[in-house]
Amino acid sequence: MTEDKRVTRLLAPGPAGIVEAGAILRAGGLVAFPTETVYGLGALASDPRAVAGIYRAKGRPSFNPLISHIVDVAAARRQGRFDSRAERLAEAFWPGPLTLVLPLAPTASVCDLARAGLDSVGLRIPANALARSVIAAAGGPVAAPSANLSGHVSPATPAHVLADLDGRIDAVLNGGACPVGVESTIVSLLGDKPRLLRPGGVPRAAIESVLGESLAGAEEGEASQPVAPGLLASHYAPRAVLRLDAEALRDGEAGLDFGGRFAADGAMVLDLSPGGDLSEAAANHFSMRRALDAAGAARVAVAPIPDADLGEAINDRLRRAAAPRP
Ligand code: TXA
Ligand code: MG
Repeated sequence: MTEDKRVTRLLAPGPAGIVEAGAILRAGGLVAFPTETVYGLGALASDPRAVAGIYRAKGRPSFNPLISHIVDVAAARRQGRFDSRAERLAEAFWPGPLTLVLPLAPTASVCDLARAGLDSVGLRIPANALARSVIAAAGGPVAAPSANLSGHVSPATPAHVLADLDGRIDAVLNGGACPVGVESTIVSLLGDKPRLLRPGGVPRAAIESVLGESLAGAEEGEASQPVAPGLLASHYAPRAVLRLDAEALRDGEAGLDFGGRFAADGAMVLDLSPGGDLSEAAANHFSMRRALDAAGAARVAVAPIPDADLGEAINDRLRRAAAPRP
């Protein structure tokens, strides 16, 4: 497993720090920044290599969709498709601790990996002005889960962030303590019924009163597993049948290679990372599976991928995709 050792800088919350945070993000780096809820670990949402860095820094063993932080409603409309419910909730609660899960807009720039391969996107405009300045300086949506190691509690101060991530990320923008301390409320507007996927900073009753209807729970119906969204009926379901840990291609198979193992022999082969780099493989994994489906591959041999570092999350996804479907 390759160690990704970085020097983590503490940036001051003035104009110079904001410019620097923006420059790091635009270059594909990782910057923790304050929001009104908790510190987020940000990467440019359009850059799959940068987003792979988030999972790596957090030591997350699986990919789940990340919230993309945007600067204003006009920018949000380029990423997600707004219906009248979304318009009303945005009007009432943005900027603020509400995340809307919306169908992906045709103009969206948030990459596959930040959406965990879904055709939907989680969006929010943070209330913290420093956070919005950083997003503006980055020049596009910033994907950011909480800035802690996987399994640890969410950080509310720069010291909390550094305790977990010092040496693993490029910078922390020092914005003091976060006032809310719990994450944003997540509402899915993908179906006829609005659903509460995660309780958080905006109370359920406030949302229901703006919508004029009650929120369905995440446990009812198809949205029952927001953390395992690859399994949701309304989402992207890859068609190809996967054969994992394949040493070589069999007749009629396409290939999803790693480290240049397969002899293509006329078959369609995409290599997650010819040089065997797990961050590159993570960055490519969702888009290459889509490309194989788009090319009509019915059966796909998948080369062995080391179960270390980001390989664990890639293998988790592949195993779920290879499991028999109902
Ligand atoms: O307060 C917050 O929301 C913090 C700060 C940093 O903004 N962010 C945060 O992000 O908690 P994150 O990435 O940990 O939240 C991810 C959750 C996923 O586990 C999932 O429940 C939901 O957001 N989510 C995001 N996009 C989704 C999508 N397209 N479909 C379903 N759920 C989605
Ligand atoms: Mg978290």
